[in-house]
Amino acid sequence: MTARPVRAADGSLTVLAPAKINLYLHVTGRRADGYHLLDSLAAFVDVGDTLALRPAASLSLEIDGPMATSLAAEADNIVLRAARLMADWAGVPPNVAIRLTKRLPVASGIGGGSADAAAVLRGLRVLWGLEVSDGELARLGLALGADVPVCLGACAATMGGIGETLTPAPALPECWLALVNPGVALATPAVFRARTGDFSPPMPLADAPADAAALAAALALRGNDLTAPAITLAPDIAVALGDLEQAAGCLLARMSGSGATCFGLFAEGAAARAAARSIAARRPGWWTAAGHLIR
Ligand code: C5P
Repeated sequence: MTARPVRAADGSLTVLAPAKINLYLHVTGRRADGYHLLDSLAAFVDVGDTLALRPAASLSLEIDGPMATSLAAEADNIVLRAARLMADWAGVPPNVAIRLTKRLPVASGIGGGSADAAAVLRGLRVLWGLEVSDGELARLGLALGADVPVCLGACAATMGGIGETLTPAPALPECWLALVNPGVALATPAVFRARTGDFSPPMPLADAPADAAALAAALALRGNDLTAPAITLAPDIAVALGDLEQAAGCLLARMSGSGATCFGLFAEGAAARAAARSIAARRPGWWTAAGHLIR
């Protein structure tokens, strides 16, 4: 899966929006405006949404795909806000027809909306031939959401600040993830509000892990500080983590972002796919997927 926009013969562009996984997430402080300071290793898997952008006489959004209905009620999708923001910045009318194929569950801690917004910004830069630097695009993206800057790069990075300070991650080993969402949408602000206790120190990975087991060992020294508050709001997260921990070949099970999606880390793709399949069979209504870590 490449994050680069692909142009079709009719001039339309297809852009992929891969799921963002927080391999660890430490809440290190809180700013005066209420936003939390983070230290997180974000990585991407080759599971995601697809956006197709086509020149048109006005701005429109059509949504299809297995998760389309969960977005139907949303009046002002982040995808439309991203297109308007880019148009305002460029001083052009926001004339683009967008088709979003929604495969990732919404409000689920894997950056679906942020990845979609980032894909729109990346795609419109190409479609409209805009001279906008990566730094400027990240600044625009941050106005849409704290996870948008990291999603613009769609490659593993250590996030600092509220998500705007990005450092390339050490090379990550080949590994696969099984993703499990227990069918509950969680609002990020509610999870941050439910967090109690001390802040954690930042613990960025110093060295490149040699293999999936070494990555799991390094991640085991870290955690996701939003897991406990998320479980108070959605107790099935604990069930999802238990299912993943028991799956054959699972090296580490953890929640991503503010939840409720959890991931299992595997050295083998077949084991990750088998875990996702067997959990899906056991838990009707849950969303599962398996993917390769993008390196
Ligand atoms: O920026 P985004 O829209 O993803 O954030 C949603 C909400 O999550 C924010 O309004 C804030 O309440 C919380 N948040 C936070 N600290 C972050 C990111 C998000 O407190 N670093």
